[in-house]
Amino acid sequence: MIVSPLMTVMVDAVRKAARGLKRDFGEIENLQVSRKGPGDFVSAADRKAEATLREALMKARPGYGLIMEESGIIEGQDKTHTWHVDPLDGTTNFLHGVPHFCISVGLEREGTIVAAVIYEPIKDELYIAERGKGAFLNNKRLRVAGRQDLADSLALYGSPYLGRGSHPRLLKELAAVMAVTGGVRQTGSAALDLAAVACGRADLYWERDLQTWDMAAGLLLVREAGGYASSADGGADPMTARSVACGNEVLQRELVAILRKVGG
Ligand code: IPD
Ligand code: CA
Ligand code: CA
Ligand code: CA
Repeated sequence: MIVSPLMTVMVDAVRKAARGLKRDFGEIENLQVSRKGPGDFVSAADRKAEATLREALMKARPGYGLIMEESGIIEGQDKTHTWHVDPLDGTTNFLHGVPHFCISVGLEREGTIVAAVIYEPIKDELYIAERGKGAFLNNKRLRVAGRQDLADSLALYGSPYLGRGSHPRLLKELAAVMAVTGGVRQTGSAALDLAAVACGRADLYWERDLQTWDMAAGLLLVREAGGYASSADGGADPMTARSVACGNEVLQRELVAILRKVGG
């Protein structure tokens, strides 16, 4: 388990925001919802959770920059630290009453993610990691699954709203991955997909067209749990490529090979 002043700040902020999300999830029908773009919704729950996180993180670490889904970029005086915050990852699930969503907060220091918290309010599952100190779920050390055979594996993926961007390619990728894995699922929360790989519930996950707030925390969880993460094309940095492919060393390599082959 990790006990550090930084983790305490992050966990306190996330738990506070989660209390609001849980309340709002019980009254979805009364929530104000608007559309940011086709198929892309935001609710008062997203905004309130973000305001709680922003206030708590700015108070605890004045000067750190923030990149938040709903408020965008808030520059800080300290150019070396940036929070990447998704106040509600899985908004579509949330608004449909599907209890699979989370809060995701990652801290980047000079281009490296150094701390991560993902919290799933409905299941009361708290994932934390600090660079070099391991990853934990409710204080239990995490390790990615050890399966070595794609045929035994469970793979997760995500798709953009209304199939924007990478849609035609995604359909080909899906067919290729489905043909060789034990099963493929779409859960609707990128951060929880990364967390699922970190804790060994899923073997693989890939997605394109992500944002840094979707993946900063989850990438650190996967790596601290002994997993491998690259961009979907095998590039070193998912954060700059805005895409990810992850799993254990063996299966991740095989997934990237499949995705590359589809790309031609
Ligand atoms: C979305 C979810 C979804 C993924 C989308 C994301 P949001 O985030 O993580 O699983 O497929 O690409 O935008 O909008 O619910 O925070
Ligand atoms: Ca998200
Ligand atoms: Ca979100
Ligand atoms: Ca969103």
